[in-house]
Amino acid sequence: MKKWLLMSLMAVLVLALAACGGDKKEEASAPAADGDGGYTKEKPLVLKFSHVTSIDSVKGKAADAFAKLVDEKTEGKVKVEVYPSSQLYGDADELDALVSGNVHMIAPSVTKMVKIDPRWQYVDMPYLFENEEHVRKFFESDVAKTILESDQLAANDVKGLVFWGNGFKHFSNNKHPLVKPEDFKGLKFRAQAGKVLEEQFKALNAGSATISFGETYAALQQGTVDGQENTFNNFDTQKYQEVQKHFSVSEHGRLDYAIFVNKPFWDKIPADLLTAVEEALDEATTLALDLASEENEKSFENIKNSGIEVIELTTEQKEAIKAQLDPVYEEFGEVITEELINGIRDLK
Ligand code: LMR
Repeated sequence: MKKWLLMSLMAVLVLALAACGGDKKEEASAPAADGDGGYTKEKPLVLKFSHVTSIDSVKGKAADAFAKLVDEKTEGKVKVEVYPSSQLYGDADELDALVSGNVHMIAPSVTKMVKIDPRWQYVDMPYLFENEEHVRKFFESDVAKTILESDQLAANDVKGLVFWGNGFKHFSNNKHPLVKPEDFKGLKFRAQAGKVLEEQFKALNAGSATISFGETYAALQQGTVDGQENTFNNFDTQKYQEVQKHFSVSEHGRLDYAIFVNKPFWDKIPADLLTAVEEALDEATTLALDLASEENEKSFENIKNSGIEVIELTTEQKEAIKAQLDPVYEEFGEVITEELINGIRDLK
């Protein structure tokens, strides 16, 4: 009888704990559960993935594909909620939202990680990458690991998982064609983040303003800035051809992404579900890399057909711009570190 009473009391206690502990799975201290942790299609584990580009962009398509793959592989037990177009958080606050756990996954253009680690501005170093093959080699390299698995990220409860590409950046503006370094003089450009891009425009005798992605179209339309730099696909999917007149294919820098997750959240995904989510991420990453090339090619055609002036710079013209950008290496070589810059160059 006593044993029965004790068991009943324990059952009541377990039920009471379960009732008030719906969020207990999210606590940093509790270890990840085995198996599927009791999640079901009806009561799934929700993973919030926030990003700033449109659903038809390289990143938008890859993020949606990831969500679909996770749904298939976990039989609906993990639900990836994708919030595109800065719907939930814009540039300025998506990283803060990740650190605080208000979202669980982001895929920012890596230069925006400057707040946590200035080395992420490697991506802006002028003409550092030679071609797509060079970029992909870097993504898979130990050099990339040093920054993706850094202590700086861990100290902020952030875990870097994998790189997704977008493409080379090109300049555009609405005043005149940009061909020679002198053509940039006196113009003002939108920049994503950080001091490296500020220095890049300074070296071209131009000004710059950090403007979030979501506000860039309006800034170009209203003349807050004259120009911008971005990939074919971001330019096209944001419809900058409506507010820019001259486009120079300059390939002067890169715009790439990495997937970052909130570490306490990630560490508590039950074992079986984690395996499935990781598999989905692997597949989505392969897809994202292919999409980056395909979508940028399509967008380049769209830009050429849009009626704005498109100038494909010659090797000599690019060399002249590159030489003008030397001060960026003088100013920021140390911040980005020789290890990273030379490590990337050695992968050519
Ligand atoms: C930008 O701000 O131009 C890009 O970072 C947007 C993006 O995420 O591709």
